[in-house]
Amino acid sequence: MADSDIATPAVVHRADYAPPAFLIETVALEFDLASERTRVRNTMRVRRNPHAVHAARFDLMGEQIQFVSATLDGKPHTAVHVHESGLSIDQVPDAFELTLESLCHPAENTTLSGLYVSGGHFFTQCEAEGFRRITYFLDRPDVMSTYTVTLRADKAAYPVLLSNGNLLEEGDLPDGRHFARWDDPFRKPSYLFALVAGKLECIEERVKSASGKEKLLQVWVEPHDLDKTRHAMDSLIHSIRWDEARYGLELDLDRFMIVAVSDFTMGAMENKGLNIFSSRYLLANPETATDTDFANIEAVVGHEYFHNWTGNRVTCRDWFQLSLKEGLTKFRDQEFSADMAAGDEANASADAARATKRIANVRTLQQAQFAEAAGPMAHPVRPESYVEINNFYTTTVYNNGAEVVRMYQTLFGRDGFRKGMDLYFKRHDGQAVTCDDFRHAMSDANGRDLAQFERWYSQAGTPRVAVKTAYDAAQRSYRVTLTQSYGESLAAARETQKGPLLMPFSIGLIGKDGKDLPLRLEGEASAAPGTTRVLELTEATQTFTFVDVAEQPLPSLLRDFSAPVIVEYDYTTEELAFLLAHDSDPFNRWDAGQRLITRELLSLAQHAAEGTALSLDDSVVDAFGRVLADESLSPSFRELVLMLPSEGYLAEQMAESNPAAIHTARQYVRKRFAAALKNAWLAAYEQNRTPGAYEATAKAIGHRALKNLALSYLAELDDPSDAIRLARAQYDAANNMTDREAALSALLSAATTRGDAIAEPVLADFYKRYETEPLVIDKWFALLARQRGSASRPTIDMVRNLSSHPAFTLKNPNRVYALIFTFCAANPAQFHAADGSGYAFWAEQVIALDALNPAVAARLARSLEMWHRFTPTLREKMRAALEQVAARVKSRAVREIVEKALG
Ligand code: TRP
Ligand code: ZN
Repeated sequence: MADSDIATPAVVHRADYAPPAFLIETVALEFDLASERTRVRNTMRVRRNPHAVHAARFDLMGEQIQFVSATLDGKPHTAVHVHESGLSIDQVPDAFELTLESLCHPAENTTLSGLYVSGGHFFTQCEAEGFRRITYFLDRPDVMSTYTVTLRADKAAYPVLLSNGNLLEEGDLPDGRHFARWDDPFRKPSYLFALVAGKLECIEERVKSASGKEKLLQVWVEPHDLDKTRHAMDSLIHSIRWDEARYGLELDLDRFMIVAVSDFTMGAMENKGLNIFSSRYLLANPETATDTDFANIEAVVGHEYFHNWTGNRVTCRDWFQLSLKEGLTKFRDQEFSADMAAGDEANASADAARATKRIANVRTLQQAQFAEAAGPMAHPVRPESYVEINNFYTTTVYNNGAEVVRMYQTLFGRDGFRKGMDLYFKRHDGQAVTCDDFRHAMSDANGRDLAQFERWYSQAGTPRVAVKTAYDAAQRSYRVTLTQSYGESLAAARETQKGPLLMPFSIGLIGKDGKDLPLRLEGEASAAPGTTRVLELTEATQTFTFVDVAEQPLPSLLRDFSAPVIVEYDYTTEELAFLLAHDSDPFNRWDAGQRLITRELLSLAQHAAEGTALSLDDSVVDAFGRVLADESLSPSFRELVLMLPSEGYLAEQMAESNPAAIHTARQYVRKRFAAALKNAWLAAYEQNRTPGAYEATAKAIGHRALKNLALSYLAELDDPSDAIRLARAQYDAANNMTDREAALSALLSAATTRGDAIAEPVLADFYKRYETEPLVIDKWFALLARQRGSASRPTIDMVRNLSSHPAFTLKNPNRVYALIFTFCAANPAQFHAADGSGYAFWAEQVIALDALNPAVAARLARSLEMWHRFTPTLREKMRAALEQVAARVKSRAVREIVEKALG
């Protein structure tokens, strides 16, 4: 662990930003790679920054590295002071060349930050502050330099030597060693540096960019994974084409490489020209990867590629600006995935496919980001302070950041947004800038003052918009009054609030026949085209009056989720059912169903907590049954509507979270849907089979999703024999992982219902079949950790056993995510067992991970951060577990989380 990582937490404040005293123009790195001890020679051309205050010393960051020597302008330099977080050099001129030599220890590095070994290969991860673990440097994003990199290593063990940019030269050296020299012509911050060395192989393609230049594309993996690279390559080619077509942005390097690594903390990393991916976001073929995996890979390949412009060519001035690149790039990857799902044709099914992607994105926001915004880690899209920057790669920065970017597009249209993007690149290419710079580009390109819009970046918490409506039959007018506030948010969020937001609020009005009414606002000469209007809310309370409204309408509010807020409107159950049946906006149609069933689920949970009888009105079941049977709707849309909100989300909506009561309620509704709609589920199962070769088209994916949802409902029946019969046949006949995994999952669920061992042989077969495919074994661990369990067979017993399974290791984040995170974050009813057994397990794992990989440990630590919102008995047990962890952990990352949680 890094010295500075165990130091007392020092809070970094956005307001304290100061430009660097020195700039580093060029960097020449030489690596003598060896797993025990790697020697790094770093030659920098340095000059004073004319725009900074004069500093007497040149201070460089360094962590977990051993200083060897310093040479200044060709002479040994001794005025060097090495300390725990770097070194200081005295007596430096205004411009000079400095060479520093140091050692690092890749094989010992379990943090997966800096230079480390995975599967016998070398990899680096430098974002956010990993470069200082490789060499002494001004490791901050506003120091941009050009790099040349020489890699030397044993040729037999490390035949492939990769770094950023273009390959200049390679050749043999004495003693069985060889070298490669790389040059990256683009200035970049240190967090975008990367090297990879090992026994890897690639598939490659040559493509021509829009301006006709030839580009070499490579996907590098271990040789046995070459059969899982095609989808990543296709996704890369699609990403290149999409960025050209949608934003006029071309690939700037002659060569673009992506590499898979088994041990990786996050999803993937956008190092210039050398993207590095967690294997699960790169490797896929139909046999080993599900439809969800295929979709995730497309999104992540796109995301990292799009960073080449939004992140790399224009980067962040400091880490508080993280959403400048992450929110924007997340928005871009969401739009890319939506366009890919829609295909080339513009028609109704393309719109439906796009809506499906939008719903999935919003679901993530509502289920994860809204919770974050209501807890102790609540922060604005542009945070004001942090202890450990790694803790701020959050759903707020990414997903809410993407929503903030999307609002510019909603306000200005696609063309206006494009103008803003063009101006942003024109002004800032090659610079390290701020979220304000982006907003100014959007503002200037569209001739619109966006000062008020800044609040989206600086206010924490989730805004609420309360809606009141009044129809005046005599005047034929309809008044819609919108009131924005933050409700009763946490003090931490309240402190950041400065006033009302500028908010695009999209609305439609629906008539008795279910059709949209024309829209004309007071003062307008005639109804505007289209039946959706984007109202611009700027005041705390504002009334919009529609005129010429022939009948009392039903409002369809916040269509397409035009702003990341919670809408409060007193719909009756019948009105929600009506919207679910008729709203022309697919997002709101889905949302109406979610509101309807959430309301029922919360009331059922209340009954379950009080021990009173549960019941659900037939009219509610029928409203969902009609969607299930409506063949004019796409299967993927129907699947989204019929998938109930997660237990975690529901527990979050209770005054006091009670996971056991939520589980009882949700299982009750699942069983009720299963029994009442049994024939419809069986029919859906049959109608959505996808015979023949596996296809990853949006259509085939939708069929499999609905068919497998049907199977999962059928497995909830008291007599699940149909599900068992179908699942066994599906498991055996499957030609793809989506179907095989879903079949196994249904069998596990039926086995829990029946309290027998029916799934055991299939579970064993699954393990044996995929023993040599780590990503599939991860699925096996996750399926077991997600089990419903029962009083006599609590899931914790199984999870504890699995944590000493020979295939389990805390050193591999994917495996930790599969077993530990699935149990602690995706199985709330079992994790929050009344005896506190889940919390004891959690505490052990956080403490163990803290010593290996603080970034992963800190993410796991967040599973208890909402402790104060739970029922009293759970709350006390959770706090005790948090205190136990707080007393034992050493890393800055975990300390920040548990200390914020304890308050
Ligand atoms: N920038 C990366 C992305 O957008 C995120 C990332 C990858 C990261 N590895 C990391 C962030 C390590 C912090 C630490 O996808
Ligand atoms: Zn990113």
